[in-house]
Amino acid sequence: MDIEKVNSMDFGEFVDVFGNVIERCPLIAAAVWSQRPFSNLEDLEKHFFAFIDALPQSGQEGILRCHPDLAGRELQRGTLTAESQREQRSAGLTSLGADERLRLAELNAQYRARFGFPFVLAARLSDPAAVRRELARRLHRPPAQELRTALGEVKKIGHLRLAELLGAHPATL
Ligand code: GUN
Repeated sequence: MDIEKVNSMDFGEFVDVFGNVIERCPLIAAAVWSQRPFSNLEDLEKHFFAFIDALPQSGQEGILRCHPDLAGRELQRGTLTAESQREQRSAGLTSLGADERLRLAELNAQYRARFGFPFVLAARLSDPAAVRRELARRLHRPPAQELRTALGEVKKIGHLRLAELLGAHPATL
């Protein structure tokens, strides 16, 4: 899809196509539509990220809370978004053994209890061992630093989703 096609979309089509660039936050795509025309992928992406950066901390935490746990209950139930399902599959999280799944569920629960939002990581760039390692490492960080890291991961996920939609090569992340 080229940028002219993106710029020609009406509101409904734009939100249909880009509504899940930020997981379960179609409001962001709805706001970004008003900023068209976009000059290229980077420009489009800049508007998504600027919206996130301009939110108060409560809104930024809200974005994180819209993400499902990695290898969590929603994956078991089959209620993930198509994008999250693909990313978790490519990280090998859909074929974990019971022990590994339990260990991740414990770490996810500890993380959520400490920070008040779920652990978010650009799963497509990862694998089960790295997810576990990152979770254990980030669990002990100061909350303000962790919020910044988690929002950085949201942007990596958004970058990969946008690049895929536009058929572009993702930047090296
Ligand atoms: N990384 C890529 N997709 C997702 C997701 O849906 N949830 C979390 N927690 N991390 C992700």
